[in-house]
Amino acid sequence: MVMLIDFECNGKAIQVEAPATMRALDLIRDLLGLTGTKEGCGRGECGACTIILDGLPVNSCLLYAARLQGRVVETIEGLQAADGSLHPIQEAFLEEGAVQCGYCTPGMVLSAKALLDRTPEPGLEEIEEALSGNICRCTGYGKIVKAIQRAVAAPAPGSQIASPQDAGSKDVCIKDFLIQNAEPVATSKLVVTAKPVADKEGQP
Ligand code: FES
Ligand code: FES
Repeated sequence: MVMLIDFECNGKAIQVEAPATMRALDLIRDLLGLTGTKEGCGRGECGACTIILDGLPVNSCLLYAARLQGRVVETIEGLQAADGSLHPIQEAFLEEGAVQCGYCTPGMVLSAKALLDRTPEPGLEEIEEALSGNICRCTGYGKIVKAIQRAVAAPAPGSQIASPQDAGSKDVCIKDFLIQNAEPVATSKLVVTAKPVADKEGQP
């Protein structure tokens, strides 16, 4: 069965036709092309697929796309400002060197954003708890925690943390992980039609 799903994603109204059994992760990546949301374990354990849903971080691999109906979604692509500048949390990740392979980074940043949106000055325990659903195999978490603490201490938006003095190729590469295909949705109302899912006999 195909459903028509209306929701808001990164400030844009979205209308998508999708199979009722499609995961929100697949809708976001495959139908909207927002591939900054990653798939790791696919079973709710790693947090790579984290999105913000109505202000709370959730694992999109465990969510049916139909559950997005009428909801407000933020993905990593939505954090980039219209002028191309990074969100203060993303800047802080750069400043602290909190990115290595980058696979966990979009989910980490979104978990941190959801925390700071509801608790602007969290303590260490609150930060650690907010990250408890996000696994990083590279950094050892110390730099990620420091980055979030740096973002907490950062000036209010509009007077963001200064960019690194030497914005060499490595920084550009890391920024790619932080932005991740930040193609804005071109229209205010996108209509995407998913192909019908074939049944076991191969019939649509
Ligand atoms: S891919 Fe969703 S929690 Fe790992
Ligand atoms: S930077 Fe590689 S998994 Fe976190």
